[in-house]
This record gives sequence, structure tokens and C-alpha cells, in this order.
Amino acid sequence: MNHPAMQGLNLNTPAYVRNAKLVAWVADMVALCKPDSVYWCDGSDAEYQRLCQQLVDAGTFKKLNETKRPNSFLACSDPTDVARVEDRTYICSAKKEDAGPTNNWMAPAEMRATLAPLFDGCMQGRTMYVVPFSMGPLGSPIAHIGIELSDSPYVAVNMKIMTRMGKAVFEVLGVEGEFVPCVHTVGAPLAAGEKDVKWPCNKTKYIVHYPETREIWSFGSGYGGNALLGKKCFALRIASNMGRDEGWLAEHMLILGVTNPKGQKYHVAAAFPSACGKTNFSMLVPPAGFDGWKVTTIGDDIAWIKPQADGSLRAINPEAGYFGVAPGTNFHTNPNCMASLDKNVIFTNVGLTDDGDVWWEGMEKDGPVPSHLIDWQGKDWTPQIAKETGAKAAHPNARFTVAAVNNPALDDAWDDPKGVVIDAFIFGGRRSTTVPLVTEARNWVEGVYMAATMGSETTAAATGQAGVVRRDPFAMLPFTGYNMSDYFQHWLTMGEKLAASGARLPKIYTTNWFRKGEDGKFVWPGYGENMRVLKWMIDRLEGSAKGSENVFGVSPSYEELNWTGLDFSAEQFKTVTSIDKAAWVKELELHTELFQQLAHHLPKELTDTKAAIEQRLAA
Ligand code: GTP
Ligand code: SPV
Ligand code: MN
Repeated sequence: MNHPAMQGLNLNTPAYVRNAKLVAWVADMVALCKPDSVYWCDGSDAEYQRLCQQLVDAGTFKKLNETKRPNSFLACSDPTDVARVEDRTYICSAKKEDAGPTNNWMAPAEMRATLAPLFDGCMQGRTMYVVPFSMGPLGSPIAHIGIELSDSPYVAVNMKIMTRMGKAVFEVLGVEGEFVPCVHTVGAPLAAGEKDVKWPCNKTKYIVHYPETREIWSFGSGYGGNALLGKKCFALRIASNMGRDEGWLAEHMLILGVTNPKGQKYHVAAAFPSACGKTNFSMLVPPAGFDGWKVTTIGDDIAWIKPQADGSLRAINPEAGYFGVAPGTNFHTNPNCMASLDKNVIFTNVGLTDDGDVWWEGMEKDGPVPSHLIDWQGKDWTPQIAKETGAKAAHPNARFTVAAVNNPALDDAWDDPKGVVIDAFIFGGRRSTTVPLVTEARNWVEGVYMAATMGSETTAAATGQAGVVRRDPFAMLPFTGYNMSDYFQHWLTMGEKLAASGARLPKIYTTNWFRKGEDGKFVWPGYGENMRVLKWMIDRLEGSAKGSENVFGVSPSYEELNWTGLDFSAEQFKTVTSIDKAAWVKELELHTELFQQLAHHLPKELTDTKAAIEQRLAA
């Protein structure tokens, strides 16, 4: 074949790259993918600017108004490539039972045979970007290195924001260091002279993980977690496997610091399913009535949590930026987030205003609705058109990519290689009925049960269809890279080990901000007001709130929450905290269904806990 790669295409390997395994792998991937050229990212600001300009020239990026939104860009994706594709995501462990019933599985050899022809020549006419990145502070003992090969410059610039990306990674990697190889292609090779499209992608998509060999292969999508392989693919699916093998946790959790007026600081890690409020909660601004309280962000999406010799659990945020949901974000719901977005942002799939700024649904709370804009699909949008056709300015899963350092509420320890000590875990689904505002587990096992049986109503962002309840154990359904019941067991084992070391275990809570009233509206005001619940948790940690026991655990009385500055009656409180026994009998039938599905290796502690709840409900 008369192709450059076959004639020994120059790999352009920089002199500072000394890892033989890496160089050999890049050579192999070049031979397979057949890019026109290879470019090694150094992670510099100059490189970022150059790649952004290249994306502008290609029509992928639109540069936003430099005065209103300095150094920021808008990308609009192909309308068929707007979210993670869970049905195309595979865990290819050697044995099917190790992927478990919640993951798509294919035998590794069969998957490799399927992917080989797809990757053969997949980068023709394009540049292969070699993107070196560290998940976690560079050189930290809890960080891990990945190398992503991608034919998407959009991926390269997003990885610069989302991870510690650049040439310093090669120093840490040295001659013999380990890395997770991540291969990504949009799956749209260009014939000689063929003009590119703004958002190349392929109808066929595969997001593939080989847990035993710790490899990631992604084909056909340029969007979010499908393409930024450090995020869900590495930091959750592959890392959950590492964590199981090595005795730590990789979780879909935000991490926040909360400081009380006395200056005492606590750290909370919270798992909410996708698009259920992690970014919001991690940047919470305490409302009126909470003078002297402060919430600071360590992470907004992923936590790596490692047990220490003293029995504590320390957590780091492996990421360096936020890839957050734009719609619904405004100065009322999340002022810190809005402040983070004032410069140096990549927006994807939001509306473009006539003065070169961005707009999305939810921003009407901050000011006048633009009389005209270009929607995420490039069409004219006016309030009238929206009213008549339901057209959205922004796609419901439109996102911003922004560096953590842009966040005014960033915690001082966000970059600390040691991480922060976790005092409490929260698991919170999105349920319009049944699940109360907040419940504390009486012990670790009860907490694991709450997390394991968590349910969530899907949002349009996940499925295009809102309001269907699906079980989302630990908010990890799409992210646990092995058998879910083994993952439950891993949590139980971690708890046993920590308890045996004599340490005080973090408390575990379950929350639900999303109960609706008869009018179909959220009863709980949410957002900053969630501080009231967070404070109750701190009171419980400090032993100053008594709480009362119910069939599931411990919950607050109306009097135990600080209501200063909020008009929320005892009656309303009852609407969000009441336990409807009949609804719970039905709910437990769904837990039974889940446990039947997860029967292989399901820990007995969980079925015992369910039996105990059923008994208490029947009493
Ligand atoms: P991923 O990045 O997909 O993992 O999502 P996330 O969990 O970080 O979600 P995010 O914080 O971006 O919130 C997404 C949606 O939840 C937005 O539409 C918010 O307006 C809404 N939301 C967040 N917090 C609350 C809350 O306390 N109450 C209500 N009712 N809605 C909320
Ligand atoms: C999620 O879906 O939970 C996200 C967005 O955080 S993505 O990075 O696309 O997975
Ligand atoms: Mn997420």
C-alpha cells in the first residue's frame, strides 16, 4: 500500500519522550490508523491557542465576543453526536460474568476482531494527536497517567482543560513508567482532497474497555465522555477495576469542603447520577441565615478515594476542569459556576447570540431573553419560534469545559496530592415521589444498601426521554467497569477493613432534592437551600442533632433544620419527608427485581438488610 505510514511516516517523537513501550505503541497505532501526520501535544498555552485557531479555521469553533467572553469558543456537534452512548459502551473482560449483568460485554478476541477493520486507516487525511495526561496531581502517589491518541483537535484542547496535560507527564512517565493506552478516533477518514465537515463522526460507535489489559478504544464519537477518555472511561471504568484490585474507590462523586462559623472544616463526597446536581452542589453558595458558613469545591464529578494507614479515607479529584451541564445554570441556581464561565471556556451545543455570546435555557432568570439567536443546530431561534415549535436554543446536554482554577469557590486543597479526609458520603437520586429529602444510614451496611438500591428518573440528557425510573446503584450504573455485585462487595469489604482499624467511618446519607407536589412542581427549593440539609449532616457528625429513627434510618425533624431566610412550612417539609408505606412496599419490589438481576455474587448483607426493612415496614 502506498501510504506514508507504510513508508515509515515520521513519528516526530520529541527527544524528551524516553518510554520505549510508549513509542512502540504509538508506532503500532500509526501503522493501524494511518494518519497523515503525528503531533505530540506539549500542553503549552501557545499550543492551546494555535489548536483553537485551527478549529476556528475549520469551522468547528466559533470564537465568541472577546469583550463579553474573552478567549472562549463555541462548538456545535453533529445532531447525532450529543451525549455518551451507553448502549455502545462495552466492558470486554475475559469472562462475561466479570463484566456483570449491567454492562454490555463481548469477548476480547471478538471485540478486537470487530474493531480491527474499523480502526484500519481510520485517521487517513487527519493528524494523530498524542495527548499525555495525568489523572490527579502530577507525580502524586495516587495519580495515574494516560496517553490518548486522537484524531480530534477538539479532544486535544478539551483534554488540556480537563486534565493535567502536557510534556511534564513524560518526565513522570520516565523510561519505564506505566500508562493507560487510550485510542480515540472520530471514525471519519478523509480521502485525498476531501473537504472535512465541522463535526466529523461516524454512525457506528464503540466505546470499549479491556479491564485486564487496562486499554480503552473509542470509535465514532467526538462528544464528551465518549471522546475525552480520561473522564468516564479511565477515571471510572478502568479505575474502578484498579481500585478493586488495589483496595481503593473510583467514584462518580463531587467532593466539597464545608467550613462552619467556628472555622471547623468537613469534607463530603456525594454521588448523584448524571445531570442530577453534582456540579451545582459542589459550588453551593450558603443562603441567608448561614453567615460564616463556606462551601468550597474540590471536584464536581469524579473522586478517587484511598484508605490511609490511620483508617481515614482520603479523596482526590483526578480531573483539572469541569465538563458541566449548561442548561439550567444561572446566577440564581449556581452563581459560582456562572462566574467560572466568564472567560477561557469551550462551550458545546449552546445557543449563539447576535452579539457573539452564549445563551441557554435557564438564563432567562438572569436577564432578558434574546429576541434572536442561532440555536445549537445552526437554525434561527426566537422566543416565538421556541413557543410554536418547542425548539431549544441549547441541547439539554449542552456543556461547558472550563478549568477548575476559574472557579471562585475552588478549595485550597483541590490540587493537594494527599487529598482530603472524607467525613460523609451522600447518595442522591432524582425521584419525584417516595424517597425522602434526607436519611442517614445507621451503619455502613445500611448505607451501602441505600446506595446500591438508589433509583433515578432519567433526564432528557441521558435518554432523550425524561421521567423513567431506572436503578442507578451508587450513580455508577454506566461507569462500574466490572460486575456490580462485586463492586457492592468491594464497598462492604472496605468498610469492614476501616472499622477493623478502629477508625470512625464516614457517615452515609441518601438525599432527594426532587420530590414533586400535586402541581407537578419541585417542593424543595434546592440549589443553595440544600445547605440546610448539609448543615444537618454536619450537626449529626458533631453530635448536636438528635434526629429520629424510621424504617430506613435516621431523619431530621422540622425543628432540627435551620429555616432562617426561607419560608418553608412544616406542612411542606412533610411533603418532602413523609414515608408512604404503600409506595415503599412497591419500591421494595423494585429492589427485589434489582437483586434478582444482580444475583451473581450479590452480598448476603444486602438481602439481609432488605429483609430487615421489609419487617419494619410490615410492623
Ligand atoms: P453530570 O456532569 O452529567 O455528571 O451532572 P451533574 O450531576 O454535575 O449535574 P449538574 O450539577 O450539572 O445539574 C444538572 C441539572 O440538575 C440542572 O438542570 C440543574 O438545574 C439541576 N439541579 C441541580 N441541583 C438541583 C437542585 O438542588 N434542585 C433541583 N430541582 N434541580 C437541581
Ligand atoms: C456524565 O454523563 O455523568 C458526565 C458527562 O459527567 S460525560 O463526561 O459526557 O460523561
Ligand atoms: Mn458525570
